[in-house]
Amino acid sequence: MENKKLSRRTFVNLISASGIGAALPISAFSIIPGKTNNKINIGVIGTGNRGTSLLRGLLAIENVEVPALCDIDKNKLDNAIKICKDAGRKEPEGYTGDEYSFKKLMERDDIDAVIIATYWEWHTPMALYAMKQGKYPGIEVPAALSLEECWALVNTSEETGIPCMMLENWSFRKDNLAVLNMIRKGLLGNIVHSHCAHSHDCIDHWFFDPKDGHQRWPAKYLINYNRDQYPTHSLGPILSWMDINCGDHIEQIYSCATASTGINSYFKRRFGDDHPNTKLKYKQGDIVTSTLKTKNGKTIILNYDMQLPRPYDNRWMVQGTLGIYNEQRDAVNIASRSPEYHEWEPFRPYEEEFMHKWWKDHNTEDGHGGVDGLELELSQG
Ligand SMILES: NC(=O)c1ccc[n+]([C@@H]2O[C@H](COP(=O)([O-])OP(=O)(O)OC[C@H]3O[C@@H](n4cnc5c(N)ncnc54)[C@H](O)[C@@H]3O)[C@@H](O)[C@H]2O)c1
Repeated sequence: MENKKLSRRTFVNLISASGIGAALPISAFSIIPGKTNNKINIGVIGTGNRGTSLLRGLLAIENVEVPALCDIDKNKLDNAIKICKDAGRKEPEGYTGDEYSFKKLMERDDIDAVIIATYWEWHTPMALYAMKQGKYPGIEVPAALSLEECWALVNTSEETGIPCMMLENWSFRKDNLAVLNMIRKGLLGNIVHSHCAHSHDCIDHWFFDPKDGHQRWPAKYLINYNRDQYPTHSLGPILSWMDINCGDHIEQIYSCATASTGINSYFKRRFGDDHPNTKLKYKQGDIVTSTLKTKNGKTIILNYDMQLPRPYDNRWMVQGTLGIYNEQRDAVNIASRSPEYHEWEPFRPYEEEFMHKWWKDHNTEDGHGGVDGLELELSQG
């Protein structure tokens, strides 16, 4: 790809078409101490699928430089270096060799921020090291795997004064931000209850290799744990809708999992009885349902649903004293406005009327790329 000097609109369209993008702390670049120009130097750690998507998005922004990349896999690293050269950019320095090579990248004086798109277990350790080196980390989801890791991120950010952002792109969707606007303007009244799910069959391509079924790195989590493995895409927008950690907070969580049958069923169907993964025991239940209750009495129903055959779904719903939004129906009912008191009406006119200011300059189609592009745009201040 040629290195083009893109307008904001062109950039977002490009991102939308290619399904790529990234995010960094929204106001981070404008407040980096000692910055005398608006050039931002970003290192990318983990140049696999998501990392290279994010990299392409960064390369499309004229005031972003990518001086260094890191991956334990030399082929992945070389591929990412080629992406930079093909974009007409200066060849970045590559760091590889062992799992701690990222430290050398983070110790460079010329790096302002890092994108971390590695395996889950590396997210928190890498972000902690970045902050200690004075680098702004943008961490792919999930940012942390335990309460201890969450507190380590918060405490280190406070100690170092370095902001740290989890790259939860679904919070930036056009529909979800319009709903946030409606809630802030009081259309739904006091928020009482919501639903959400990450319903995305990832057994046939992400947890396991689609060709021969061998275990990719996330498979170990299905073998060793029974939990909601990936809650951030579903929960992200809800946390804003419900003012979580902004006047309210989660006080109770009760989670319940079904038996684990879907992964074995997939392997039997696809690879037959003799494949080792057909007989393997997985701790992870097929569907996990969590009920969360906030201090102010709101409730959330959250589903993990990533290992049964099904189309993609998020099932967002939010309900208040004056109205309800339902993403699956693409509909609302607002007591003070809807023509029929108990009938659904289409959401799209509301999305237009209450479009968030961040989306007003962006005529991209809704979708992964458009959302990621908005995040990238915002990160440029
Ligand atoms: N926000 C989204 O929409 C979205 C979409 C897909 C994936 N993700 C997240 O992105 C992350 C990466 O997922 P992926 O699908 O790109 O996986 P991937 O396997 O394609 O890429 C991960 C890369 O990290 C590298 N890596 C692992 N440990 C490393 C270390 N210590 N040092 C340097 N490199 C290391 C691997 O070699 C690999 O190239 C995951 O956290 C995933 O949850 C987010």
